Amino acid sequence: METALRDKHILLGVTGSIAAYKSVLILRELIQAGARVTVVMTSSARQFITPLTFQVLSRRPVYTSLFDPSDEIRHLTLAERADLILIAPATANIIGKIANGIADDLLTTLVLAGRAPLVIAPAMDGDMWTHPVLQRNLSVLDGLGVRVVPPEEGPLASGKEGMGRLASEEKILSAVQNRLKRNEDFKGETVLMTAGPTQEPVDPVRYLTNRSSGKMGYALARAAQGRGARVLLISGPTSLPCPVGVERVQVRTAEEMRDAVLRSLPEATVLIMAAAVADYRPRRSADRKLKKGLEPVLLELEPTPDILSEVRLQRGRRFHVGFAAETEDLENRARAKLEQKGLDLIVANDVTQEGAGFDLDTNIVTLMDAYGETTALPKLSKAETAERILDAIVKLKTRPRTNDRIIR
Ligand code: PMT
Repeated sequence: METALRDKHILLGVTGSIAAYKSVLILRELIQAGARVTVVMTSSARQFITPLTFQVLSRRPVYTSLFDPSDEIRHLTLAERADLILIAPATANIIGKIANGIADDLLTTLVLAGRAPLVIAPAMDGDMWTHPVLQRNLSVLDGLGVRVVPPEEGPLASGKEGMGRLASEEKILSAVQNRLKRNEDFKGETVLMTAGPTQEPVDPVRYLTNRSSGKMGYALARAAQGRGARVLLISGPTSLPCPVGVERVQVRTAEEMRDAVLRSLPEATVLIMAAAVADYRPRRSADRKLKKGLEPVLLELEPTPDILSEVRLQRGRRFHVGFAAETEDLENRARAKLEQKGLDLIVANDVTQEGAGFDLDTNIVTLMDAYGETTALPKLSKAETAERILDAIVKLKTRPRTNDRIIR
């Protein structure tokens, strides 16, 4: 714990929630772990707790206002100095403001002005937590690479039971520490990512596709970008916005995805194929809409190019990661794909498990590498699954290619 936090400048934002008193405990833990913490409070937070408490504990001034004529341009200096911004507790109000780019006080202004990673720990009433607007705002933040430490279930200030209690100090601290550890460890890497489904045309209005939403691949793209990589994202059709700072090329078919991958491949140091590429496409695609009739229609299908197998021989020192979406015999099938496609790492998901696979915000994956090691991860958000996959890549990339490697 201490190594990641030692001498790091943490900006602790405190907002107006009954859980504001717990920020004092978080501040104490951060300081004990060696961090230099500057506290910024919103005006509502001051209704719950006084700045003096934080000032005494942090031994630094506590900032509460954007407008102080005696000071330098505070939002710029504070934002520039921070290694990480933690907002705990984060109310529905501040989540809404950040998600929509509103900067109407010191804390929201320095979030917008700063480029340091942002970790937020929401705390609010259960009905507010489940409100679709709040959930939409959270997914906007997730899309921007903000790490959200979800609240816990239990008794709430309203007297009701439900989700909304601020996460424990241990969970918040561990999220901060993980975010700092991962900072910049992909600097110098160019990660070529694929995500989403492909669409294989039957006629001008119909196509063959699958249920991939692109969420897993986009989470990886965001995470790699947040960790300092240049990210080239080849995306099949999805409704997801392009993550900030990521270079995206949109494609439709497996053939187009293959061509786009081959074009960018020479620049890439890591290739991650999270896309659910169609294995078959109609042999012929009609140039006019097929007319409805009473007779059955037979579609003749042919295999699409297998992108990973095709680039296997050009791998060189580039690190190749594939995914395996399986409905049975997960480990054997995934390991067979690892070998056939000459991968360094395969991420296997049993898409029949509840909480795993297509079009969800969570996944349950098993990581299998070219050295014969297997690591099963628990059910995690796709954002956290992405971070764990990147952790595994970092670890394997620094391992010398010795004789214990099974895949060559
Ligand atoms: O997009 P989401 O809704 O978030 O869902 C995520 C996911 C389930 C799609 C993702 O986690 C996943 O498992 N992606 C790979 C799905 C897949 O196509 O698996 P596969 O076993 O058919 O393919 C194995 C590997 O070969 C994959 O890395 C695939 O990208 C690649 N492949 C497949 C076919 C093909 N023609 N060329 C390929 O390179």
